[in-house]
Amino acid sequence: MSGRIQTPGREIHLEPRLKQVAEYVPTGARLADIGTDHAYLPIYLTKQGRIHKAVAVDVHAGPYQAARLSVAAHGLRDSIDVRLGDGLQVIQPGEVDVLTLAGMGGVKILEILNAEPAGLRTISRLIVQPQGGVGRVRAELCRSGWKIWRECLVEEEGRIYTVIAFTWQNGWSEADIGREVEYWRKLWRPQWACGAETAREREQRILAGIIWRMGPLILRQGDPCLDQVLAKRIEQCSRQVQGLDQARVAQTAGKAAEVRLEIGMLRARRAALGAETNNI
Ligand SMILES: C[S@@+](CC[C@H](N)C(=O)[O-])C[C@H]1O[C@@H](n2cnc3c(N)ncnc32)[C@H](O)[C@@H]1O
Repeated sequence: MSGRIQTPGREIHLEPRLKQVAEYVPTGARLADIGTDHAYLPIYLTKQGRIHKAVAVDVHAGPYQAARLSVAAHGLRDSIDVRLGDGLQVIQPGEVDVLTLAGMGGVKILEILNAEPAGLRTISRLIVQPQGGVGRVRAELCRSGWKIWRECLVEEEGRIYTVIAFTWQNGWSEADIGREVEYWRKLWRPQWACGAETAREREQRILAGIIWRMGPLILRQGDPCLDQVLAKRIEQCSRQVQGLDQARVAQTAGKAAEVRLEIGMLRARRAALGAETNNI
């Protein structure tokens, strides 16, 4: 994960991950980039003339100083306000309308947002690129009323990252994602039933987990990196099933059956993707 600007002061080149975050920032935004490190993102957007103003925030002294130096090197001290502080605590309510949080763990992103719920009311677009826990970020933000407006996968230096833009007004809500489970059930047939939970409830739970983790828009619309992500997850699940089967105890049998269900669903989506690609 580099996000490197190659020639400070003049040409600016952002790596694909941060470039995608920048793509989701609306023109004319009053932006706060939380966890800015070298402030590459606000510098890029300011140099492009895409944003009205920017606040670059970092909680640690080293990245804060690095941000100050980069901003000065690009001659943008009057346009980008670099602040040392914890998340939204150094942003006044109503001061910005767009937030970016990239390159941090999903739990950290949620902690930062949950710490200042009042500060989020005037935010019209929230763009995140979690390093992990992507499903939890989607689920918690949608449960708080955010809607997934756009999302995509980005490959950089052999890793695939997820970038998601939320708004309060337009996009996929928690209820929409609940309905999406039924759509994906058509791609796949039930095979197992267990205990008190009906086979249908079990399928719904597993499918919902897949949709939250992989993203409703990414799954529906496809993405150039989706096949790779599905293949990787199938491989992980297959290894997990092998381990569970080797344990040969009753407690692991139910779990192994669930993971097999997930593999079946992922394969169905992969097959549909192949069909879609073949139809083009
Ligand atoms: C890995 S860097 C990501 C830099 C840049 N956003 C990117 O995506 O390339 C994460 C940064 O978040 C900062 N950070 C972590 N917790 C923070 C918080 N609560 N408030 C502000 N910055 C924070 C860290 O100091 C670090 O500089």
